[in-house]
Parts: sequence; structure tokens; C-alpha cells
Amino acid sequence: MNVIIDTDPGNDDAIAILLAIASPEIDLLGITAVAGNVPVAITSRNARMICEMASREYIPVYNGEDKPLKNPQVTGEDAHGRSGLEGVEIVEPKFPPESKHAVDWIIESVLSNEGEISICAMGPLTNIARAFEREPRLPEMVRELVIMGGSKFQGGNITPMAEFNFYVDPHAANLVFKSGANITLAPLDVTFQARMEEEWIHRLADAGDIGKFARDILMPSYRFNSERYEGEYAPLHDPFTVAYIIDPSLFKKRPVRVSIETESPLCMGASSIDWWNVTGDKPNCNVLSEVDSNGYFELIYQRVKSLDNK
Ligand code: RIB
Ligand code: CA
Repeated sequence: MNVIIDTDPGNDDAIAILLAIASPEIDLLGITAVAGNVPVAITSRNARMICEMASREYIPVYNGEDKPLKNPQVTGEDAHGRSGLEGVEIVEPKFPPESKHAVDWIIESVLSNEGEISICAMGPLTNIARAFEREPRLPEMVRELVIMGGSKFQGGNITPMAEFNFYVDPHAANLVFKSGANITLAPLDVTFQARMEEEWIHRLADAGDIGKFARDILMPSYRFNSERYEGEYAPLHDPFTVAYIIDPSLFKKRPVRVSIETESPLCMGASSIDWWNVTGDKPNCNVLSEVDSNGYFELIYQRVKSLDNK
């Protein structure tokens, strides 16, 4: 499966990238960095650092949009640290980002491989929205757009009403969900079902140097979430998008109409997920509703472990 990862690493993004690199089911064509958890220069550096550390093959990283379509930039250093990869020493990557802009590369790649490329989008949707805006044929040509974002019953994690990725760029999310693309969405409602356990994180350290890196990346995230959610939740959001591509049988999904709030200050970025189809509107995506949590974490563990022998 040809895959582009659009990302804002970010601790959970980092694990998603490792999972993709480690998985034979995925041909990772490249990574597009977007402003999100930290500014785009840092998300790009982090993506390149992770690729150089974990992959024998060169993986191109393209710098994307440095700010949302309309709203002011909001970042997430509280959760991911100023480096975006709190918990590990930053090793400056050997390779610079590709000279081509991420949006240009996404457009060119999809246009020349119609129906062949899936995109895992795990940051604000600014790059994806810009690509769809610039090339209206693109939404129909992407094989599948698997997005981590949004929330319904779970409530928000950046405001009471909105999830971070959709809050940071609600106009981009709105454009993407109106685009007609073949979307699968992993909202907080499903990512909160998979509770990361400290024992599992420490087990990762058995998986060699990469496993230790993953452990060091995840412990600050575990502590942050355990404190914020009073020990009730410790989600690992972004690998959902990659795990779904690798093994969709780990999930249940449901066709639903999703709309994004772009006007209300109180509800900016909120995702109206019409679970019971009360509007009668045609569904515009499949929402992941359940996850086999043990299967999810075992997949990540086994694949990260396989990287140590690469
Ligand atoms: O709300 C969680 C999402 O926001 C994750 O993708 C995390 O990395 C941040 O980007
Ligand atoms: Ca992310």
C-alpha cells in the first residue's frame, strides 16, 4: 500500500512513523510536515530525525504549510515539549527537507498515481486542504484519506468542544470533509478506548535501541495524559491511522456525516459527528467506532521490535 504520512511530530506522530517504517504492508512514499504540535520547521526536523534513525532507506520529507488557512497558529508544546519530541535528545538530521513544497508534492504524487495512494493525516489538515483547494480533481483520486482528529462523545482536548488537529485549522478540516474524498476518521472517541499502560511502554525497551527511543518518547506523553485525565486515559492517537491501513480488522467503523464548526468562538473546530443520522444528510466518511486495544498495542510493539533488527 502506497502511503503518504502528513504529520506534526509530536510524540504520538513519532510512533505512527515508526509503525509505518516497520510494516511491510506499507510503502512509505514520503512524509509531509505541517505546523501543529510545534512549528513546521521543527515538525520537519523531527520527521527527518525519526526516519534517519529508524529506516535504512532514505525517506523524503517535505515541508508544508507553516500556519492555518485563516486562524492564528496554535501549538501544543504543553503536551509534546518545545522540541516536539519531549523525552529524547534531538539529533539533527543529516538530510535537509526536499526542496519541493509538501502541497506541490502531494498534488503531483496523487495526480500521477490515481487511486493508488493513501494518505495518513495526523496533524492539522492544512496541507491536505491546500492540495484539494489547488487541484479540485485530487479528492476523488486519493485512494483513502485516514485522519486522526475530531471528537463527539469524548469532548475536546484543546477546548471543551474541539480536538487539537481540527481546532488548529478548522477551515482546513471543513474543506476536507466537504471535498468528497474517501475519508476514514479516528476521533478521540475511539483513540481514548486504547489506554496505553506504563508496563507496555517499559516493555518497548526490550525492543532494542528503537524500542528505548519509543519508550523515552512515550513516557512524557503517558505522564502528561495520566495527569490531565486523572489516571483514567492515556491515549496514543496517531498510530491509529497507520494501524488501520495495516490491519483494518482491528477496528469497527460506521458511515457518518461529519461537519466542522468554523464560526463560533465557543465551538471553533468542533466536529459535528451525526452518529444517529438525525440530519438525514448523506454520510461523508467512515468513523472508527471501536478498536481491539490489545491487538493495537501488540501490533505496535511487534513492529517497533522488528525495527531493531533492520
Ligand atoms: O488531538 C490529538 C492530535 O493532536 C494528535 O495528532 C496529536 O499529535 C496532536 O497533533
Ligand atoms: Ca499529530
